[in-house]
Amino acid sequence: MANVAVKADVNNGVTRREFLYYIWGASMALFTLESVGLLIWFLKPKFREGEFGGNFILPLDVLPEVNAEPFNFPDGRFWLVNLDDSAPNERMYRRDDDPANLKGVAAIYKVCTHLGCIYNWTSSNDRFECPCHGSKYRLDGRRIESPAPRSLDIFKLEFLAEDKETVLASASLGTINETEVYMPVELPANAAFIRVDTGDRQLGASQTLLCDFVGECP
Ligand code: FES
Repeated sequence: MANVAVKADVNNGVTRREFLYYIWGASMALFTLESVGLLIWFLKPKFREGEFGGNFILPLDVLPEVNAEPFNFPDGRFWLVNLDDSAPNERMYRRDDDPANLKGVAAIYKVCTHLGCIYNWTSSNDRFECPCHGSKYRLDGRRIESPAPRSLDIFKLEFLAEDKETVLASASLGTINETEVYMPVELPANAAFIRVDTGDRQLGASQTLLCDFVGECP
């Protein structure tokens, strides 16, 4: 069939050599188009506002009460927690090696640090529990029980003014067990929104398991 087509073209005044040039030219044009398309895809920002991996802006009224159960935000794959270990209860209690002043708001990544399962908040036990292999975490994300190798990861969080642009307070980095982590941010006056940057995540630290303090590790 291909020979017939070539012959037809030749009869119409196009030589075999010209025909091959046309084919080669068309292939080069297609290749160039594909390369440009790939380059544009590569240069384009991967995350848009509101997509996972980007910024989420939430109104302040989603914020839980101090040491209350966490607010679940599935679209951003994080929990919002409002902590104060100077007002401890069964969810947020202080241990000897905790950094001073665990007080403020944090956004905790919803993926278990063991093998990446999605864990849940278990109200009956007042802690996060992973259904896959049993890791458990305190309200602030610190490990209670292994096999999780570290505490939960924390996203960068900021408080914004009414204009959604002016930053009133921002998560700062603290060091726990030689690991830099985002510390909770205290709620500033006049804050109207919370911004969580899910493209900016600090890995949790490997602190002593909380169950070790009470000698109850399985
Ligand atoms: S993935 Fe959560 S304990 Fe294994």
